Amino acid sequence: MLDSHGYYEFGLFKGFSLWFAEQVSRDHRGEDFYFYGFDSFEGLPRSQVDMDPICWREGNYAASLEFVMNQLRSYGGDLEKTRLYKGWFSKELFNGLRENDEFLPAAICVIDCDVYESCVEALGFVKEYPFTPLSPEWRRGWANGVSCDVTVMTGGRGPC
Ligand SMILES: C[S@@+](CC[C@H](N)C(=O)[O-])C[C@H]1O[C@@H](n2cnc3c(N)ncnc32)[C@H](O)[C@@H]1O
Repeated sequence: MLDSHGYYEFGLFKGFSLWFAEQVSRDHRGEDFYFYGFDSFEGLPRSQVDMDPICWREGNYAASLEFVMNQLRSYGGDLEKTRLYKGWFSKELFNGLRENDEFLPAAICVIDCDVYESCVEALGFVKEYPFTPLSPEWRRGWANGVSCDVTVMTGGRGPC
């Protein structure tokens, strides 16, 4: 599964979790494994559902594409295997990406975009790239436990 597959992350902020996943997978993945990251790079959109005025304010977690690329570069990220896509999550965005790029099936998908509407769009896209169920052994080997669809990874020193 760590070859001819991809790690998908929706909601990058400064890029820490994508960077961390890339680093910890180095000894385990094959040549044909890619890290796909998606973000507006302008922070959160306004939500009609999630109204928390502190955590989920419009524009929170904004970090530019250039900033994230610089962070990944300066902390030794593998840019050859990393593809970052800028835009607001929507069918139009994802249809356009699909037309222009090839996406491998998802081995791991991290949906960390905070607001309901964003998660719906992200799931609508990634469900086209079926997840392979993880075995418990493999889960333990990745980062002390992950779930197959929505994953949170913590720990380690990194760019954020
Ligand atoms: C909590 S941050 C992600 C944190 C990151 N995964 C990490 O661990 O460091 C949420 C991110 O989701 C992005 N986001 C949320 N909704 C979005 C949408 N509809 N379109 C594009 N990006 C979105 C925001 O720009 C923000 O960078």
